[in-house]
Amino acid sequence: MTIDWHYPRHDLTKRVMDAFDQSVSDTLTLFAPRRMGKTEFVRYDLIPEAAKRGYVPVYVSFWENRDDPALSLLLAIKSALAEGNWWRRATNRLTGAQLSIKGNASGELEASLSVTESKPTSPDSATLADLRKHITELLRKNDRVLLCLDEAQHLATSSAFESLVFFLRTILDENRKQIRVMYTGSSRDGLRKLFSKRKAALFQSSSQIDLPLLGSGFIEHMKSCYQQASGREFTYTEGQRAFSLLHHVPREFRSVIEKMILSGATDILNEAAHAYDNQVEDSSYPVLWQNLKAIDHALLIWIAYGHASLYQEACKAYLANHLGVCSVETHTIQNAINRLRGEHLSLIAHGAYEFEDARFRDWIIANTSASSSRLPDEQLCIEHQQSDRRPSE
Ligand SMILES: Nc1ncnc2c1ncn2[C@@H]1O[C@H](COP(=O)(O)OP(=O)(O)O)[C@@H](O)[C@H]1O
Ligand SMILES: [Mg+2]
Repeated sequence: MTIDWHYPRHDLTKRVMDAFDQSVSDTLTLFAPRRMGKTEFVRYDLIPEAAKRGYVPVYVSFWENRDDPALSLLLAIKSALAEGNWWRRATNRLTGAQLSIKGNASGELEASLSVTESKPTSPDSATLADLRKHITELLRKNDRVLLCLDEAQHLATSSAFESLVFFLRTILDENRKQIRVMYTGSSRDGLRKLFSKRKAALFQSSSQIDLPLLGSGFIEHMKSCYQQASGREFTYTEGQRAFSLLHHVPREFRSVIEKMILSGATDILNEAAHAYDNQVEDSSYPVLWQNLKAIDHALLIWIAYGHASLYQEACKAYLANHLGVCSVETHTIQNAINRLRGEHLSLIAHGAYEFEDARFRDWIIANTSASSSRLPDEQLCIEHQQSDRRPSE
């Protein structure tokens, strides 16, 4: 008996495909942090439904060959042209990189890539011409194409990719009627950067949708899969509490269940609590924290505890106190925020930031206190004032 672990997101699939079919939107952007189920949704829900509705799907993840996204795109299009089912297309597109399969601590198989060269490559004119040729051919042979660009924010990470972004924009503009695009990304800030690029504003008109959190249906589905696989059970309430402990991350929930099946453990709450602790222990947060500047620490603590208004007196006083100086200038805060954005923080509304990684926020709260600040030190204040008078570098 095979168990279908995939929990289908029917509503979202229908909403997206209807919007494409009725030309409500030509392009949509789906955002969610990592491990929340974007790729799973695109591969197992959206692409099969699109294929049923007569689209030829092209799937490319820009994280597969991070230095050469043009090559990834070209291979995906060539695979779509070469026909075969979508799964083959989705898995056959790697060259210049080795796909290694390894087991992680929970026995789960994980694919990872080792790419030999590591410098962002700007596509040359021959590659772009090749891309254009193949896309044109695909459009000639198929009425409708669904282009799924996974981890699209990666295109905004290097100026070497600007010509590809510009190329994509041109192709999409020219073929608006035939191509629908689903961008997915795990950094809200990275996506925003990509969409607002002045030189190559590719995505000026893409509506953004947030991937809904999985809820009761998913828990019931996992409960049933677990029961089929092990003959054992957990109650719905236990499942719900475990899922919430794991921040509603489906990947972590599934890992806990897999582990229970393999080890014979039966207390899902206990297993989830252990999994959570292990993740935090295994994480690189302590090293990451050490490498941040003192002002970054103070700002992250301020935001982790739910405070906003970064440029107001209350925050400035907090930062000054934390740093042991008399005052903190607005531009110092701006510089720190610019450093932290995209990497750790994301702007969600005017002046309001949230953590890209909720676990990092939890870690900060667990390891610091809101009042972890020193009283201003006279000596430091004097030094600070003197350094303020120095000519800027
Ligand atoms: N709808 C779902 N049904 C079952 N498992 C899921 C679902 N969505 C996500 N998962 C689990 O979470 C893991 C991570 O999902 P993935 O799509 O790779 O996340 P993302 O692309 O957002 O980083 C999947 O490999 C799978 O184990
Ligand atoms: Mg993904």
